[in-house]
Amino acid sequence: MVTVSAPGKLLLFGEHAVVYGHPCLVTAIDSRVSVSVEKTDSEGVQVESPQSTDTRFVDAAIAKSLTAWNVTARGLRLRTASDFTSSVGFGSSSAVTVAAIGALGEFFGKKIPLGEIFQLARQAIVDVQGGGSGFDVAAATWGGTLFYEKTMSKPEGIDGSSMPLVIGYTGVKADTMTLVQEVAKKKDADSQKVNRIFSAIAGLVTDAKAKIQEGDWERVGRLMDFNQEYLRDLGVSSEKLEALISAAKAAGAWGAKLSGAGGGDCMIAVVSAEIRLEVEQAIEASGGQVIHILPNAPGVRRDA
Ligand code: MEV
Repeated sequence: MVTVSAPGKLLLFGEHAVVYGHPCLVTAIDSRVSVSVEKTDSEGVQVESPQSTDTRFVDAAIAKSLTAWNVTARGLRLRTASDFTSSVGFGSSSAVTVAAIGALGEFFGKKIPLGEIFQLARQAIVDVQGGGSGFDVAAATWGGTLFYEKTMSKPEGIDGSSMPLVIGYTGVKADTMTLVQEVAKKKDADSQKVNRIFSAIAGLVTDAKAKIQEGDWERVGRLMDFNQEYLRDLGVSSEKLEALISAAKAAGAWGAKLSGAGGGDCMIAVVSAEIRLEVEQAIEASGGQVIHILPNAPGVRRDA
């Protein structure tokens, strides 16, 4: 039996603009999804996914990789396991797709370069859900903290290992594709305004990349506040996100913003070690759930 895992992600800066070719910053988190592959006596390919009824991403990963490698699979069982639920917005679909392709590659004894895992996973995800920028697939594949643009065949890694983040979950599951479509409608209605917002966000991403590498967390926090203002203008924030963001700021966070598509899922804040606990308590007191995860986790890897 072969087991391969891939990390979930947190989008730090640049959501929505990244869909239109602008850069974003994403970090891989230490919560992972794993896929095991083993031989069985039965004829077909079985997928067991005890934590989710949705096997579309694993099915697409199997179809894409077996076609690309020209192998016929008979008598295989793939089993998935996840450290997190699909409702928090940590990118379970991209992580499971990347882990499944990695596990199949190992099972068939192929040395699949990361760039190929990324491309196959991107295609599998586009087949299942349509668009998406692929930043989450990049994080699941390469891990670490990445400066990503959707035309890049390999994203640029930056040092994000000591980023002092607090994460608050709203308890509301966001529907990414609906939010992406809403932004697209806004862009159709007023392309000048939305393009201006996207360019401004792209500028923040470039500044944040430099400040993260310098470890200037106070400035990174300010840049998060600016990014959040633009996301608000795009209409993708929510009352619950705003409540958790305000609570974190009032408790002394350097800055805070939503992370991902918006509408729900998680917010993130940059905090100093001295006030971390106060910020966490303020988020919980405002109805959020603090999730303890570490950034900058390794990408897809064989575990067994
Ligand atoms: C969703 O987590 C982030 C978006 O930018 C969509 C994407 O990049 O695929 C809204």
